[in-house]
Amino acid sequence: MKKFVSIKDIPSLPEWVEEAINIKKQPLAHKELGANKTIGLLFFNPSLRTRLSTQKAARNLGMDVIVMNFNKEGWALEFEDGSVMNASTSEHIKEGAAVISQYCDIVAVRAFASLEDKEKDEAETVLNSFVKHASVPVVNMESATAHPLQALADAITLEEQKKVQKPKVVLSWAPHPKALPHAVANSFVEMIKMTEAEFVITHPQGYELDPEITQGVDIEYDQEKAFENADFIYTKNWSSYTDYGKILNTEANWTVTGEKMKLTNQGAFMHCLPVRRNVVVSDEVLDEGNSLVLEQANNRTYAAQLVLKKILENAD
Ligand code: CP
Repeated sequence: MKKFVSIKDIPSLPEWVEEAINIKKQPLAHKELGANKTIGLLFFNPSLRTRLSTQKAARNLGMDVIVMNFNKEGWALEFEDGSVMNASTSEHIKEGAAVISQYCDIVAVRAFASLEDKEKDEAETVLNSFVKHASVPVVNMESATAHPLQALADAITLEEQKKVQKPKVVLSWAPHPKALPHAVANSFVEMIKMTEAEFVITHPQGYELDPEITQGVDIEYDQEKAFENADFIYTKNWSSYTDYGKILNTEANWTVTGEKMKLTNQGAFMHCLPVRRNVVVSDEVLDEGNSLVLEQANNRTYAAQLVLKKILENAD
């Protein structure tokens, strides 16, 4: 594997999930694989889970880890070819990525959507510029449109927790005071399409995700109807895709509550975290309900470890 930028880079999701579950049983079994190798984790946005779980995964494989918070510590990067750099940017991605490639055997990048320009976000300028100009494999730690490490961790969690072969999985939109990107929801949808599940997305009118991603998926605008007999409620906020990056304020109360969870088949609550309590989901669901949020966060390590293992096994 030369890069991991999309959940679609996984050749067989069931086989990868099985391998990740085995890694989880013996996380230090491949401690020699990454000896004398270095991973660079480059953050253009904040993180808790991605940063720490990817570091832990790399260390479990014996790798050295370099972390850089680019927005605060790095030179402002220029991504345009042929630009006259007489304004705010100081270093071109051509040199930046080439230099980082001299220090690192793998580069992992986090660069969120701006939510200001759909075309630019969908071009994945930052991630794709690293793919183009780095001479080492690149891993997506959440880009403008995708969060494949989260989706892989979620696939592991679903496999571990499901009680029937084909569970009902509901992706439910929930409110949030800030406009959020579509990356987690996009990758979750792409991942679920690769599994055996009865899948429904529920959200208020106007919050339809990219139709190319949701093609063939049932959309239910009545949240409570969607919850009926569900085995898993995966909750996430995202801003409007059609009215790009906007909060529409058309939603009534879409917060996931204990009352709504009672409509499910004793279903489990899932969220990628961080989560805003009593906005996205009520305290009772997280504290007293069947919440899997900590299991999901734990599986981030084994998802990242599997991706790094695949890359290291194919190095040179
Ligand atoms: N779920 C997730 O990616 O968490 P962080 O933003 O804290 O890394």
